[in-house]
Amino acid sequence: MDEFLNFAKRIAFYAGNVMKEFFNKEQGVIYKEDRTPVTLADKKINEYLIEEVKKEYPGFKVIGEELSLDNDSDYAWVCDPIDGTSMFTRHVPISVFSLALVKDGEPIVGVVYDPFLDEMYSAIKGEGAYCNDKEIHVNNKKLGELGCNIDYCMWSKAKYDTLEIVKELRNRAKMCSFGSVAHGCMLVASGKISGEIFPGTSHGECDVSASKLIVEEAGGCTSNIHGESQRYDKDIDGFIATNKEVYDELVLELRRFYK
Ligand code: IPD
Repeated sequence: MDEFLNFAKRIAFYAGNVMKEFFNKEQGVIYKEDRTPVTLADKKINEYLIEEVKKEYPGFKVIGEELSLDNDSDYAWVCDPIDGTSMFTRHVPISVFSLALVKDGEPIVGVVYDPFLDEMYSAIKGEGAYCNDKEIHVNNKKLGELGCNIDYCMWSKAKYDTLEIVKELRNRAKMCSFGSVAHGCMLVASGKISGEIFPGTSHGECDVSASKLIVEEAGGCTSNIHGESQRYDKDIDGFIATNKEVYDELVLELRRFYK
């Protein structure tokens, strides 16, 4: 597995350099049908991943937010070249790179890289979660406890309107919205916040597949928005990631709103 992790980290560092190169210069932003932006940087990173997979892992699939390689394989490299592209186009340094190796729908290796803070989050299934090689763990804050912060994402075309659950939880947690679900999940994995709520987007598996593994290896809980398991090599049905203390109560609340 170390070989796969080293490959993922190598792609992540390349992506980080591209993100820093384009951060303050002309990004060639265009908006997709679903009103989300894509930049030259997103495409350059996604294209590079596909070229490197063809060389190193011929036959593996690539499921990229912008470009994919549809080989018939149980192994898929699932990538969001820039998670938080909207903030990236506004020159707000919270966007991250996300890449997971998914086998039969289950993430087994994952990296999320924040080039602005030079923080490399990583995990191999069963071997714990790390930030720059320092082991990380979720916190143990409960809903209603002071210092319990939850990040949520909202998207006009999402299947679930997160405003409902935000209104419900705002007396029991500090609700915040950073603009990158993968970054929010890394804050959960490193114990800085207690939960992440994501209604899903098109290609949502690209946004969260690495985060699913890293949060779980940091001692947290993840699932679809109904508290059920799901595959991470095809469209997801929303996603939540929390510490152990918040999970059950959050799922009960979500089930009240989202059938
Ligand atoms: C977006 C971010 C954002 C979420 C959007 C996603 P992208 O991902 O994760 O936090 O609210 O729904 O589309 O498009 O920048 O990869």
